[in-house]
Amino acid sequence: MQNMIETLNVALGDRSYPIHIGNGLITRPELLLPYFKQKKAVVITNTTVAPLYLDKLRSTLESGGISVLPVILPDGEQFKTWETLNQIFDALLGSRSERGTTLVALGGGVIGDMGGFAAACYLRGMPFIQVPTTLLSQVDSSVGGKTAINHPLGKNMIGAFYQPKLVLADISTLDTLPDRELKAGLAEVIKYGLIRDLAFFVWLEENLEKLLARDAAALTYAIHRCCANKAEIVAADEKEMGERALLNLGHTFGHAIETGMGYGQWLHGEAVAAGTLIAAELSSNLGWLDAASVTRIEQIFVRAGLPVFAPRLGVSRYLDLMSHDKKVQDGKLRLVLLRAIGKGVVSDLSDNALICAAIEVRCT
Ligand code: NAD
Ligand code: GLY
Repeated sequence: MQNMIETLNVALGDRSYPIHIGNGLITRPELLLPYFKQKKAVVITNTTVAPLYLDKLRSTLESGGISVLPVILPDGEQFKTWETLNQIFDALLGSRSERGTTLVALGGGVIGDMGGFAAACYLRGMPFIQVPTTLLSQVDSSVGGKTAINHPLGKNMIGAFYQPKLVLADISTLDTLPDRELKAGLAEVIKYGLIRDLAFFVWLEENLEKLLARDAAALTYAIHRCCANKAEIVAADEKEMGERALLNLGHTFGHAIETGMGYGQWLHGEAVAAGTLIAAELSSNLGWLDAASVTRIEQIFVRAGLPVFAPRLGVSRYLDLMSHDKKVQDGKLRLVLLRAIGKGVVSDLSDNALICAAIEVRCT
């Protein structure tokens, strides 16, 4: 298993890059070293991930003569802020990092999104590498170049599209991931089945327990399948002018939950799960999705140990929070809904009463 590696490509012309998926990848210099123009790396990580994986990554880089400056940030969604971002800039400037210095993001989606945004901004752009260490970041956030920080008024509101040079998904890092985080990652995994890959959804129904038990072959298959879906979408629609918006299934409601509850209270994947059930409910109320499909969707999230009801923030608070969504166009909300399992659509439904009814039914 140690040497097995699967590779996908995100096809974006001269900004194309590989996604490597496999066991023990952070200890393989030949995968990393070609991406360093300079013998210097700035590794962005956090207080939880650093004691687990920083030394391993550092040894790999140092074996190629690369000096490593670690930047260890506080851990948590509540730290995905300007203040924390500025700590990265302090370290980059303080160490006289140059345009050719490579920034490596070692951690989950919070570190990847902040590290990527810092790389996009510093000296107007420096090369960066994603080394995702959570299931969620391996199947979603490390691929596609969305980078951001949060604002008190909304999730991921300040950011940039900025692609990495390489994504290295080392599946062995998932061994230390807490169960709650593994489950949160499954919300984004299930998303791919729902929006465009019915066969994968059926595979998930049959293999969910293997994923929960961290079966390496099942995890590798699922990560590969998610990344293949995402790479295809990103290659076709990098800046989210169309199809890419489907990746936001459940997110408009989910982001409202995260912001409304206070960042870090509900995990991103948990909020997406409850948000997806609101979207399914709404799709059903529109007559687009049959009741049996809603039940099927609910069942898979329940089996994954994810919430299928949202917190009771009040419908007007939901609508207010959702009005900041990045998909809003000319002041109008656009939601990702389902025509069937495996068929997501972006809708500009403007009937607030219908939206409120779906939220109301799916709140506890
Ligand atoms: P996270 O980055 O907060 O990581 C979850 C927790 O696991 C943290 O406490 C982290 O320190 C810890 N952790 C990370 N790796 C570990 C490991 N191997 N072993 C033990 N603990 C480990 O959360 P996440 O779920 O990875 O990412 C969520 C973030 O990703 C959100 O901010 C969300 O907005 C963002 N996101 C971005 C995109 C995108 O396209 N850029 C897509 C989806 C989500
Ligand atoms: N996770 C949403 C996107 O990458 O577009």
